[in-house]
Amino acid sequence: MPERSVVSASILAADFTRLGSVIQAAEKGGVDWIHVDVMDGHFVPALTMGPVVVAACRRATRLPLDVHLMVEKPENLLQAFAEAGADTLTVHVEACPQLHRTLETIRGLGMKAGAALNPGTPVAALEEVIPMLDLILIMTVDPGAYGQPFIETTLAKIRRARALREAAGSEAWIEVDGGMTSETAPRAAAAGAEAFVAASAIFHHPEGIEAGVAALRRVLQPSPARA
Ligand code: DX5
Ligand code: ZN
Repeated sequence: MPERSVVSASILAADFTRLGSVIQAAEKGGVDWIHVDVMDGHFVPALTMGPVVVAACRRATRLPLDVHLMVEKPENLLQAFAEAGADTLTVHVEACPQLHRTLETIRGLGMKAGAALNPGTPVAALEEVIPMLDLILIMTVDPGAYGQPFIETTLAKIRRARALREAAGSEAWIEVDGGMTSETAPRAAAAGAEAFVAASAIFHHPEGIEAGVAALRRVLQPSPARA
């Protein structure tokens, strides 16, 4: 498979009073996907947004919406996110006792299916479902908030996930999420990551959103690929 690299802008750190225009600024800066962090106050302590916000993002951009569900019982919400316009729906393996069925349902609803692993969950948890996956999300922080530092031990885990994908002959994206900066992203790329989620590095960049995207782009692959 040719090398590929996408930047997925996490709106968690965006100014919600101006959601449409900040998404458009990220798009103008050259991001490939918009990442929406859904937190339910149970799987993680924080409470963020749901299908209504995904639908608003859908009206603001034609970029793929990369929706990350940090919720318990995600199986109850799949249809609502499909109707809201999600393109990729990623569930946490820690929240899915029937992971195979949940991934099958996501695909059956016409979306791409992703599975996320917390830093404490081994890559082997995905072995049996690799053929069902369009995206493997390696959390590089413990989920729950933006602005946390990158966990160094996840580099070896990215390598293990990449090896698992190659061995299975899968084309699932290897995505990383948490603590991505122009210093950590190229190291994650060297370990095998291909999709880079960033909130603070884009929406809190001191020179603005477009400069934040450009700084990440500069250190990643020169030829972006779209999903
Ligand atoms: C963390 C979320 C991330 C977060 C990333 O629970 O899943 O997507 O927004 O934020 P930064 O890029 O600031 O680490
Ligand atoms: Zn996320």
